[in-house]
Formats: sequence, structure tokens, C-alpha cells
Amino acid sequence: MQNSPLPVLSTQHGSLRLLTLNRADKLNAFTPEMLALLSASIEEALADEATRVIAITGSGAKAFAAGNDIERLVSLDGVAAYRDMVAGQRALLRLHDCAKPTIAMVNGYALGGGFELALACDFIVASTNASFAFPEITLNTMPGWGGTQLAVAKMGLACAKRFVMSGRRFSAQECEAYGFIHGLAAPDELFDAVQSLAATLASYDPFAIEMSKRALNRANELPLSAGLDFEAAQYAVNFSSEGARAGLRQFLERQSARRTARTHLAPVTP
Ligand code: COA
Repeated sequence: MQNSPLPVLSTQHGSLRLLTLNRADKLNAFTPEMLALLSASIEEALADEATRVIAITGSGAKAFAAGNDIERLVSLDGVAAYRDMVAGQRALLRLHDCAKPTIAMVNGYALGGGFELALACDFIVASTNASFAFPEITLNTMPGWGGTQLAVAKMGLACAKRFVMSGRRFSAQECEAYGFIHGLAAPDELFDAVQSLAATLASYDPFAIEMSKRALNRANELPLSAGLDFEAAQYAVNFSSEGARAGLRQFLERQSARRTARTHLAPVTP
């Protein structure tokens, strides 16, 4: 008997864990099994000390993910649809607020739930042939995996309304101009671009990255004064780490070495 392929594949590339949605024949449309394995794979990557950055992509050349599986969705009753949306929201909220930096490597269509998944990541790096849309309105439905909230947080209310209420597909170039895409690359250079961003993120102290991300995420949820209190508390927690003092000390040592090198230079005579 033939085993069915895993709906999510995990591969390790140095300190980068790449998770690949693996249902190319259906443009990586989500099933509950795929969502459950994606969540489990994220937890596994978070628990692995050698993994410093998590990236998510889609298999095949056409799609990151074309959203929730419409064939399955159409048969759900209201309660089942509600539970489905809450499960998606929980998974994406966990991703959005996890301790490690995350990158959506968008290699084609990012539609509906696929767009929501990309927005739940810290960074979106897209191929030049990628496109983004919330087509739900064209199906007389609406985003339900956090899309209305994440879109406003990531692109502002006016821009989010354009996406959610028009249903139109936007090119990666248009999205870059809107500011929520952090890098564009030719399809065959996309993974290199993701690896380069991941290498930068992995070169910093993981605790400083985690504390910064936590404070940034709260900015969308708290009034300014509470957000500033939270930032100050996070700053103090981070400052108590050995990494923070080592980083500051190393800067001073580099400056001191530069000063010494300058004093040993022969004076320039006119
Ligand atoms: N759910 C279930 N199946 C999907 C799907 C989805 N969201 N998106 C694509 N597929 C399937 C298609 O039914 C097709 O299956 P088949 O080969 O068994 O017929 C396969 O994936 C390829 O898609 P196809 O439509 O033939 O490719 P295309 O290049 O002509 O069009 C899209 C690509 C993305 C424009 C089109 O598939 C589409 O509009 N998909 C729905 C996107 C959407 O509305 N998402 C939000 C869902 S709430």
C-alpha cells in the first residue's frame, strides 16, 4: 500500500528551518491535516535550539497557498465553519507571536488563508511572480483566519479595506509599494534571498530578537502608555541577559581598538 505524502515537509538549512506546504496539485489549499502538521512542525522548530529562523513556503511553482480547501468548506455547517476558523486563528496567532523570527517565502499565489499565513509571519519575501488577495468577498464570504485583523495591523485600515472589500489580486510589486513585503526576488533567487535575511536574523542574540519581537507585537494591541511600559519592562529583562552586556562591551572594545590603531598611524605631513 502506498503512503500518502506528508502535507507539510520540514528541511534544515543551517540554522534555518524551512516548512513546505506540500499539496501542489491543489495549489497547497489547506486541509485540517495540513494545518495540524504545520502547527506541530512550528512547535518542533521552536523547541530545536539549533533552529534560529523559521521560513514557510509552498511546493510547486504556482502557489504559496490558495487558501482554505473550498471543496471541504462548502460542506461545513455554521458551527463547523466557526470551529474551523477558530482553529486557523489559533495556529496563526501562535505563529505571529512565537519567540523566533519567521519568514513567509511566497513563491506564487498567496490567497485567502495563504495570505493570512504570510501576514502572520514577521517578514514576507516574495518572488516577482507572486500575487496576494483576499478572494473571499467574491465567494460571498470573508477572511476568517485573522485576515481582517492582521491586514489592518500590517498594512493599515485603508489598504486592508482595499484588499478585503475588493477581492482583487495584487502583484508582488504593488504589495512591495504598500510596504508589507520586505523583499522581492526572481523565482530562482527566492531561496537565496530568504537565506540571506535568515542569516542576518540568526547573527543576532536570539533573546534580543525575541524581546524586540514581543514588544513590537504588543504595539498593535496596547494603548501607547501601556505599550511603553511593556517596552521598558522588556528592555530591563533583555538587559539582564549576558548577551546584552556582551554586545555593549564588544562595541566598546572595537572602538578602543580603533582609537589605538589611529594613535599608531604616522602623522600626515603636508
Ligand atoms: N480549494 C480547493 N481546491 C483548490 C483551491 C482551493 N482554495 N484553489 C485551487 N484549487 C484546485 C483547483 O480546483 C484545481 O484542482 P483540479 O486540478 O483537481 O481541478 C487545482 O487546485 C489547480 O487550480 P486551477 O484553478 O486549475 O488553477 P488556475 O491556475 O487555473 O487558477 C487560482 C489558480 C488560484 C486563480 C484558482 O485556483 C482559484 O481562484 N482558487 C481559489 C482561490 C480562493 O478563492 N481562495 C480562498 C478560499 S476561501
